Amino acid sequence: MEHRASVRLAAPLLAVLLGLTAGCTGTTVQGRPGASGLRDPYFPRAGNGGYQVEHYDLDLAYDPADGQLHATAVITARAEQGLSAFNLDLSGLKVEGVDVQGAGARFNRTGNELTVRPAKDLKKGEVFRTEIDYSGRPKPVVDPDGSKEGWIAGPDGAVAVGEPVGSMGWFPGNHHPSDKATYDITVTVPNGYEAVSNGELRSRRQVEDGQTEFAWHSPEPMASYLATVAVGKFKVTTGRTASGVAVYDAVAPGEEAGSAPALARLGEIVEWGSAKFGPYPFGTAGSIVMPPRTLTYALETQTKPVYPGAPDEELVLHEMAHQWFGDSVSPKSWKDMWLNEGFATYAEWLWAEDRGGVSAQRRFEAFLAGDTSVDPHADGDWDAFAPASPPGPDKISDDPVYYRGAMVLHRIRQEVGDAKFFGLLRGWAADHRHGNASTADFTAYAERRTGHDLRTVWDVWLYGEGRPAAPAVTPAPAATPTPAAG
Ligand code: ARG
Ligand code: ZN
Repeated sequence: MEHRASVRLAAPLLAVLLGLTAGCTGTTVQGRPGASGLRDPYFPRAGNGGYQVEHYDLDLAYDPADGQLHATAVITARAEQGLSAFNLDLSGLKVEGVDVQGAGARFNRTGNELTVRPAKDLKKGEVFRTEIDYSGRPKPVVDPDGSKEGWIAGPDGAVAVGEPVGSMGWFPGNHHPSDKATYDITVTVPNGYEAVSNGELRSRRQVEDGQTEFAWHSPEPMASYLATVAVGKFKVTTGRTASGVAVYDAVAPGEEAGSAPALARLGEIVEWGSAKFGPYPFGTAGSIVMPPRTLTYALETQTKPVYPGAPDEELVLHEMAHQWFGDSVSPKSWKDMWLNEGFATYAEWLWAEDRGGVSAQRRFEAFLAGDTSVDPHADGDWDAFAPASPPGPDKISDDPVYYRGAMVLHRIRQEVGDAKFFGLLRGWAADHRHGNASTADFTAYAERRTGHDLRTVWDVWLYGEGRPAAPAVTPAPAATPTPAAG
């Protein structure tokens, strides 16, 4: 009885106290911790909740002789909720200190999660600055499919590649493609080495103790898996495409002759892509050719793809096509990988077709008939699963994502004809320029844009299990090749 009475008395008192708290939100912030992952269907712990990054300012010093990295990351982000703590993704390396809004912050690490507890809660909507000092010898991140990403040291240099989750191996961040940001990446290396990164080279200068500092700037938003740094004794060549895009090629010693024919086509490829898919999305283009035995695959790192050695023309075409499809229009989740790879593969088919080679229709028919020899890179396994639902995180870079993904696009083209199909490709690149999109966004957009019901294409080709039968459609008339500008 007594107890009840006291509860009755306390209730109005509590209401008064709550009212008071609500009245002074300016001084008392009710923050809670941001989520430790974005629940990506394939990489649930990649990325973090509660904030969006606006800009990364990375300052790295690297010595190829001992493989040590000394770095400061300054991350400008906007809180999407009141935050008492938030996470960054970081794998390995030693965190020496963290400041938030100029004040020392507590932090701790479990697995690949760096949890930061600011001295003062962050308000919803607040733009805040986090500075992380870290160092150590970065170790590659091993992908579920067994490939290596992250910071990869080679014979006389290093390269950083991040697809899908390797970027946490060299800088702390919100490592999920759905959080794109602009970047400044400054790299200091011993004299004699070149340091190359995304975007434009703002300055190159001698600093103390025989070191050269390279300051790179990326003004367009970038998904963190597309950030790169390459250190080596590269031969650098610069130029411009016909329409004025600045080109910067860095080629490892010994790879110059092998790279020359394909790199000579880079300008033409950028102009062809611009005619086919709409304006090239970035202010700069280029290439980074690594010495052999550093990497086993190429990656479409933004503005400057990385190649594991001298690339051929098809590979340069593929990685440059990703600048529209993957880099500018980025996947919302790792399940949407076919929006990258199916499109870049289909771009190779279109390039060949436009240059009097095998037509896309012929490749499509040959694949269906079980003959993948029309594509030098494909194996017979193009149909192991549906491109929009790889069976696991270890399968997102497998053949069906590339080749059956390309066949989905060809099926659309068969249904709607060339005029609507190429309008769709350009419209898609324009509509989601510098953004993110999902498979559902694409299927809805394709139907809206072309005015066709494409349900059967989605059901059978995009989501359906098993090898689809040859479609019962009259193939649309062949394309009038788009003249490559320049
Ligand atoms: N996206 C790259 C390309 O198609 C391939 C990356 C392979 N990465 C991997 N983890 N298997 O050019
Ligand atoms: Zn690709």
